[in-house]
Amino acid sequence: MTSLFDPTTIGDIAVQNRVAMAPLTRNRSPQAVPNDLNVVYYEQRASAGLIITEGTPVTQQGQGYADVPGLYLPQAIEGWKKVTEAVHQRGGKIVAQIWHVGRVSHTSLQPNGDAPVAPSALPANGKTYVVNPDGSGAFVETSAPRALELSEIPGIVEDFRKGARAAIAAGFDGVEIHGANGYLIDQFLKRGANQRSDAYGGSIENRARLLLEIVDAVAAEIGGGRTGLRLSPVTPANNIVEEEPQPLFDYVAGELGKRHLAFIHVIEGATGGPRDFKQGNEAFDYHAMKSAYRAAGGTGAWMVNNGYDAESAKAAVESGYADVVAFGRTFIANPDLVERLETGAPLNKPEVETFYGGGAKGYTDYPSLEAVPA
Ligand code: FNR
Repeated sequence: MTSLFDPTTIGDIAVQNRVAMAPLTRNRSPQAVPNDLNVVYYEQRASAGLIITEGTPVTQQGQGYADVPGLYLPQAIEGWKKVTEAVHQRGGKIVAQIWHVGRVSHTSLQPNGDAPVAPSALPANGKTYVVNPDGSGAFVETSAPRALELSEIPGIVEDFRKGARAAIAAGFDGVEIHGANGYLIDQFLKRGANQRSDAYGGSIENRARLLLEIVDAVAAEIGGGRTGLRLSPVTPANNIVEEEPQPLFDYVAGELGKRHLAFIHVIEGATGGPRDFKQGNEAFDYHAMKSAYRAAGGTGAWMVNNGYDAESAKAAVESGYADVVAFGRTFIANPDLVERLETGAPLNKPEVETFYGGGAKGYTDYPSLEAVPA
């Protein structure tokens, strides 16, 4: 029987176990450049089978939160090189989560103070995080977006392709395309945010077009075996709405199955919330989505996330349902999470107040087992 702690391959990436560190925005990279503190944080977590970085915008237009590290400045590539080298030195593997937030942004974060872009000019009605002139952080209302012109869409695909290329230049083992949580790709997928009447709106095929174009561009650029994708079929994160997620994601899974990707990463339920959350009337059937992927020939690792603990993660892998399980908040608080899951050692509790922004506190100072006094 396969165990959570067995090595495997995720596409072209050989990993030492099936525990992934989920992408976690921490807002500790001023000027969008990874720094030495970020190096320490990721290095501490290198015993994960696969680290997925925090969301890393591929352009400034893709930025939605202050102090998030990007992949579009030369200094950022240099900063990320230190992160990837440190993780590799400790035997870990790391992919960059490449990101465009779409409408979940604020004019103060956009080039020239422009409006954020979206499939349609519909506000997210949510919050984002900015830094005040005095350096303190604040949550503010997202700004009203403008709809992308049809002629601008190839540029968005190109931005993801370049971001993937930059990730490889920075020493990453691959990328995870951020298709989840109500950001740009998810905004195109779901009718609550997409009212377009061109080839990118309306039918399921049209709403999935941008996602698939980005997947194809990235896979052509760096190889499908180094390309993963994150999806969240039902989450309401960032006020995203889709009343009929099942046919949409069964179609997407079938299309993905025709492509040879490293992994498909599915957030089950509301991100960070109830696993049985539903949009529309029916409970979402994740097994059906996986079956659609496999039936179409998909061979990538099936990665699952959201509210897993040691027991449920072991069961998910042992039953054959999941190939990899990603942990978010528990990885924030437990740099040596894999060892703790394997030995049954107690877990440190994550401290919510230090999730976003700040310095070493609540970031690199969670103790590992050897540092805990007997
Ligand atoms: C997140 N999450 C997240 N997801 C994502 O795709 N990109 C990101 O940058 C972030 N950032 C982020 C920051 C923080 C502080 C939290 C708590 C969460 C969601 C995360 O990857 C994961 O899906 C959830 O935390 C649920 O998994 P757990 O925590 O139940 O294992």
